[in-house]
Amino acid sequence: MIDKKSAKKILSKFPKKNILVVGDLILDKYLWGEVERISPEAPVPVVDVKEESFNLGGACNVAWNISKLEGNVYIAGVVGEDYNGEILLNMLRDHKINPIVVKDKKRPTTEKTRIIAVSQQLMRIDREDKNKLPHNIQNRLLEEIKKIIDKIDAVIVSDYGKGVVTKKIMDFLVDTGIPIFVDPKPSNFNLYSGVTIVTPNKKEAYECIKKDRSIPVDKVGKEIMKKLGLENLLITLGSEGMALFTEGELIKIPAKAKKVFDVTGAGDTVVSVLALSKISGGSWIQSASLANYAAGYVVGEIGTAAVDRDTLLSLIP
Ligand SMILES: Nc1ncnc2c1ncn2[C@@H]1O[C@H](COP(=O)(O)OP(=O)(O)OP(=O)(O)O)[C@@H](O)[C@H]1O
Ligand SMILES: [Mg+2]
Repeated sequence: MIDKKSAKKILSKFPKKNILVVGDLILDKYLWGEVERISPEAPVPVVDVKEESFNLGGACNVAWNISKLEGNVYIAGVVGEDYNGEILLNMLRDHKINPIVVKDKKRPTTEKTRIIAVSQQLMRIDREDKNKLPHNIQNRLLEEIKKIIDKIDAVIVSDYGKGVVTKKIMDFLVDTGIPIFVDPKPSNFNLYSGVTIVTPNKKEAYECIKKDRSIPVDKVGKEIMKKLGLENLLITLGSEGMALFTEGELIKIPAKAKKVFDVTGAGDTVVSVLALSKISGGSWIQSASLANYAAGYVVGEIGTAAVDRDTLLSLIP
């Protein structure tokens, strides 16, 4: 599906590419601790926190994947006027990601906190506002995007359903004529018509057309494409790899992972590599295949990982 020589050529073009990621910025927070007693106040464990750490989540993880592959990356989204927003902005800059971020004082920065003790997640605490961005914030974000849009080679929409991806923003992006790669949220499917490609996982694909799992995946794919007027679609199938629909054909690409530790973020890696490869001269099959190798690598790493160009090339026989 992709040979080493073609991969080398495609990968060599990544560093000059300018990618804009638009979507929901998430701060992943981890509290690592120990449990030695049950609380006297309620029948719950008391966690003695030993360490705190942060990761780039949601659209920020897509941007991190691009940055790690040496693409020049901008990220457009919102944070709140809060401490978490500052942490996130600093982390983006530390990871060589250019933030185009509007602060909305009426919403908190989306934060997902995991409490981990005795090597086990005890709880996750979410702080977020999933309402659509108000019009004034959408307009401010669009103004910021317009300042850099002329140099952008591809847009990745990373929709986690937290309100940044709206009709107004999608219409603007589609009108630019720049290739648009969408990692979708099923409840927003009607917003994606006319984009270059959508990359749902299997569950999202079925949810999109509200069909049960007895319908074969090729039918589901064709229906999504018809509904959204798409020429290309990539359904990721977890341990079964991926199904690429292009030029009226369905091409199945088997999974490449040798070991599986943590599948979170695999979808982010897929859309990142797919976009970079396609605008670097790869065909759809070559680009999906390269994305499949990259995803196979990140699922074998502990935590949300990203792959660099040398490692990715080394995976191709
Ligand atoms: N268990 C697995 N074994 C082998 N490869 C896997 C496995 N899970 C995921 N992958 C690889 O990762 C790709 C994307 O996985 P998946 O379909 O689970 O995406 P996703 O659900 O969008 O992931 P995310 O957790 O990031 O949302 C697959 O196409 C495959 O290449
Ligand atoms: Mg996904």
